[in-house]
Amino acid sequence: MNTRDRWKVYKTMSVMFFLAVVTLTVVQRGSVNIGAPFELETQARVDASVGLEPGVALENKVGSYRGIKDFWKISKHKQQLKAWVSTHEGRIAEDRTRTHPRTWDVTSSNCSANHNLSNQDWFRSLEDNFKQFMLYRHCRYFPMILNHAEKCTEETYLLMAIKSVATHHDRRDVIRKTWGKEQVVDGKRIKTIFLLGKPANEAERANHQKLVEYENYIYGDILQWDFLDSFFNLTLKETHFLKWFHTYCPSVHYIFKGDDDVFVSVENIFEFLQTSNHEENLFVGDVIFKAKPIRKRENKYYIPQALYNKTLYPPYAGGGGFLMDGKLARRLHWVADTLELYPIDDVFLGMCLEVLQVTPVKHNAFKTFGLVKNKSSKLNREPCFFKSMIVVHKLLPSELMHMWNLVNRDLVCAQKVTIL
Ligand SMILES: *[C@@H]1O[C@H](CO)[C@@H](O)[C@H](O)[C@H]1NC(C)=O
Ligand SMILES: *[C@@H]1O[C@H](CO)[C@@H](O)[C@H](O)[C@H]1NC(C)=O
Ligand SMILES: *[C@@H]1O[C@H](CO)[C@@H](O)[C@H](O)[C@H]1NC(C)=O
Ligand SMILES: *[C@@H]1O[C@H](CO)[C@@H](O)[C@H](O)[C@H]1NC(C)=O
Ligand SMILES: *[C@@H]1O[C@H](CO)[C@@H](O)[C@H](O)[C@H]1NC(C)=O
Repeated sequence: MNTRDRWKVYKTMSVMFFLAVVTLTVVQRGSVNIGAPFELETQARVDASVGLEPGVALENKVGSYRGIKDFWKISKHKQQLKAWVSTHEGRIAEDRTRTHPRTWDVTSSNCSANHNLSNQDWFRSLEDNFKQFMLYRHCRYFPMILNHAEKCTEETYLLMAIKSVATHHDRRDVIRKTWGKEQVVDGKRIKTIFLLGKPANEAERANHQKLVEYENYIYGDILQWDFLDSFFNLTLKETHFLKWFHTYCPSVHYIFKGDDDVFVSVENIFEFLQTSNHEENLFVGDVIFKAKPIRKRENKYYIPQALYNKTLYPPYAGGGGFLMDGKLARRLHWVADTLELYPIDDVFLGMCLEVLQVTPVKHNAFKTFGLVKNKSSKLNREPCFFKSMIVVHKLLPSELMHMWNLVNRDLVCAQKVTIL
């Protein structure tokens, strides 16, 4: 190589580096807005369900707010523990004689639309997005694009499984620096993975796939499947994660599963798990009881009668963040395989739990449907409040970093805090 060639190579490299920086900047700016409309709609869904007014509920509870340190330890979970134990005899037990595949055994994504439906009246009356869902509902599993078979081969105490999408590079980045950091605490190993599908939009697919692959090359923590990341495909993400977990993670004790825009206190998760003996059927989160399916067509969570005709949903935990034990996750995988897919992922998981006769437990330290309706309320920015929580939903990456730093510095919180 002569000097001229070297200069050429150097120039090309510089231009490529510059382009990468520009792309990343654009990506990060762009993705900040993507989650915003979703936020309001999540709120709307909760407001419409029976007996659920997050703001009101919180105000009642803050009255009984004990010393901030043990606030989340107590609550009601002692009484409810009895309920789990008495219901733990599920109808579907894990069949130990079944052979467990050691690898992801799906290699073809060749699943064609079910056109049998198109001559049925109820199908023709559906909105387009439900038609799309129904046409591909029978396509249960897709191949993996990025896998980490090695992720939990060692004994792991807590696996953090975080739903993300290709464009959210910045959110993953801040999670890796804060609550999703892989580490060993008191001899207990914490591992983190991000769950991705393919970007639903062509341009994003072209621009972000290489970046995702590069990010994965550096951090080794991305699982990606060959299905489109769309709202109705979130249930696929759930079932694919359960299957993956069942295949590759024989010795994980607990799973935290959540969104990529939440604040999580790992310290409080540890303390929660250690204060009681959660041997089996642990499923705890921001649980909604007696939610009604939404029948207003304008709502994002609208469900036509043809898809679900009962008046109430089974109890389910908000998908923003919940904890479960590894054994239950394995049983959930078997049940999920026997049920038809339902377009709302957290409700689908509630349906699986119902089959297992496991009642999810509501805990006040999980705030996945928002803290208070009033967005400008001081509570949403109060570090002592965050310090006492396990999950709090909806923070931008910069807000998450800021709150993390506040909470993890020498924050002094009064024993009794009156925030509202
Ligand atoms: C996909 O499936 C269809 C029908 O089952 C078949 O005709 C086609 O050859 C398959 N394509 C590939 C790439 O396997
Ligand atoms: C469509 O109908 C045919 C004939 O009844 C059946 O064999 C096939 O399995 C159906 N396809 C799907 C995807 O359900
Ligand atoms: C889910 O992903 C599959 C595979 O990419 C796709 O064919 C299907 O249309 C998607 N479903 C929805 C409802 O977006
Ligand atoms: C509700 O749906 C189930 C299964 O789709 C069906 O068997 C049942 O007849 C339906 N009930 C009513 C009242 O429509
Ligand atoms: C929201 O909270 C702020 C600060 O606590 C208060 O000034 C404002 O009046 C509240 N807005 C509503 C609509 O309650």
